[in-house]
Amino acid sequence: MISPNTIQTIFETARVEEVIGDFVTLKKRGANYLGLCPFHNEKTPSFSVSPSKGIYKCFGCGKAGNVVGFVMEHEHYSYPEALKYLAKRYSIEIEEEEVTPEMQQQIDEKESLLSLNSFVTKYFIQNLKENDEGKSIGLSYLKERGYRDSTIEKFEIGYAIDNWEDYSKHSISNGFKKEILVKTGLSIEKDDKLLDRFRGRVIFPIHNLTGRVIGFGGRILSSDKSKAKYLNSPESDIYNKSKVLYGIYHARNAIVKQNNCFLVEGYTDVISLHQADIENVVASSGTSLTVDQIKLISRYTQNITILFDGDPAGIKASFRGIDLILEQGLNVKIVLFPEGEDPDSYVRNHTTSETELFIKDSAVDFIKFKTGLLKEETEGDPTARSQLIKDIILTISKIPDGISRSVYIKECSVLLEVREQTLMNELNKLLRQKYRNKNTPFADAPIPEIIDTAPKQIEINPLDVSFLENDLSRLLMQFGNVEMNVNDEDGNQHKILISDFIIDDLENDGLTPDDNFFRLIINEFKESKKNKTVLTTSNFTNNPNTELSAKSIELLATPYELSKNWGKNKIFVKKEEDDLFNLALSSLMSYKSRLISKKLKNITEQMRNNPDDAEIFLLQQEFFELKKLANLIDGELNRPFNY
Ligand code: CTP
Ligand code: MN
Repeated sequence: MISPNTIQTIFETARVEEVIGDFVTLKKRGANYLGLCPFHNEKTPSFSVSPSKGIYKCFGCGKAGNVVGFVMEHEHYSYPEALKYLAKRYSIEIEEEEVTPEMQQQIDEKESLLSLNSFVTKYFIQNLKENDEGKSIGLSYLKERGYRDSTIEKFEIGYAIDNWEDYSKHSISNGFKKEILVKTGLSIEKDDKLLDRFRGRVIFPIHNLTGRVIGFGGRILSSDKSKAKYLNSPESDIYNKSKVLYGIYHARNAIVKQNNCFLVEGYTDVISLHQADIENVVASSGTSLTVDQIKLISRYTQNITILFDGDPAGIKASFRGIDLILEQGLNVKIVLFPEGEDPDSYVRNHTTSETELFIKDSAVDFIKFKTGLLKEETEGDPTARSQLIKDIILTISKIPDGISRSVYIKECSVLLEVREQTLMNELNKLLRQKYRNKNTPFADAPIPEIIDTAPKQIEINPLDVSFLENDLSRLLMQFGNVEMNVNDEDGNQHKILISDFIIDDLENDGLTPDDNFFRLIINEFKESKKNKTVLTTSNFTNNPNTELSAKSIELLATPYELSKNWGKNKIFVKKEEDDLFNLALSSLMSYKSRLISKKLKNITEQMRNNPDDAEIFLLQQEFFELKKLANLIDGELNRPFNY
């Protein structure tokens, strides 16, 4: 465990522009640096690094983060790996924190499961290369399938001898504990004996993101129908099936490079494609896809292409999994291989460029694919057809982005020969249901029309305060320590910190924000005032609390700094800082106004549902006080109060 002290030193020492400068050529532009984004292909630079905020942001692809985030993203490192990299870059000595005995025990146990797996993997490899049975049965099978030695080595493929007590005994005699053998699932305990789970099988180790073996898949070589073709390790402390994808360790760099991930069904599809230098490929290993697996892919790309073998039943079974991908906001394309072929057999019978061309030419967008497939099936059956339409709309409703949804509606309207407006109505119905189900406190509040074909003004929920809370949070983080001049009632000028101005004002009115993040920011300022420390932007963007730093980066990365074009065209625009007081004041007033509207609405509701007279009296009092405050604010905002 890296100690919190070391983490803090790393964050304080590492300069975002220096660290990124090691990988990207940066040119100074005003207060910031600009370069070509390393995360997507571009010809004109839109990747901006702000030394003062300690963050980077690409205005082309939207990626943003702090210095540690950059190293994680760019090098595909875990958090501790990135910290270690930076510590080395700046010669910071890493101080390991003392871990409690329980923590240590957990770490030790995981570590011993991993080291057993690594030991047994080597043993399986040795069987394949040196053992007579391994060579004549295992290796010859792999050779027959056309696997090269380099491929076998890369994926650490091995062989388990057809014997009940082979590697279990071998491991015990090499000092591994019985319970560890059982915990990895490699061995099964029976009547005080340890039996091998994998016997007479070719073994495919399953690697985690850092390349360590967390489980195994074993393929049987005989055509014995009573035995499963593949046997897999059971789940364990180190192997969680729903969170890993076979091949991810070997594929992750290629996925980023290609900005696309091929998803296949099996071990052999992954391996054969790799052997043909198509490396951006992972397998779900025959099970249906999980949200965690999709999130894993989305760390590297937003594009998934699913490669199906030509079996319609299998494809339909996977529709639900594909809806999950859409729900995560990823783009899904489908490639259907010819009847009787899977990616493995196809790539073995074709050249790499033929395979690549086939994939490129036959990739169809998922929604179009699903629509086409089901349309054929429901030809001439109106009931089935209307069910199909509902089904497709349900799929479209999963897509988080409104513009994409309306594009799909247009396309499906043509494909299905149904009026666009009819599909739109159905979609809006589903979206409304989804909105209600979310259990919002104001379920009866007007629901914004989510999409429509006719251009129409988007209704904004008048009680929504979140964007104002975000805005005030950002003002605090960016300018909290800036002093501004205010005039008091007698016309005397005072200096006051922006943070004090905002926080005191809210407190004087007895208003507590709803939003957790905003409250957190306020608390940080109060704490720092108490401790007489100064908070800078970097305290937020480089906060070890990753949730806090992620949100602050998101808020701070908005392009308030003027783009270079403004300067070029000699257009004069006032900088945000120039009018800080008015900005803070108007944000604060709009926020208070809305917050009070929201609270008033809440109180009326409580009054309506409350039979107790005394309670109602108290509520009324609160109501009138808030109302009075509202009128005051309104005066300042100089617009009618709309409650
Ligand atoms: N699978 C499994 N258990 C089975 C059958 C299949 O776990 N009894 C998983 C494996 O991960 C396998 C994938 O489902 O790789 C796809 O199954 P299949 O297409 O039958 O196997 P292939 O990978 O094509 O293997 P091979 O080409 O050797 O037949
Ligand atoms: Mn196969």
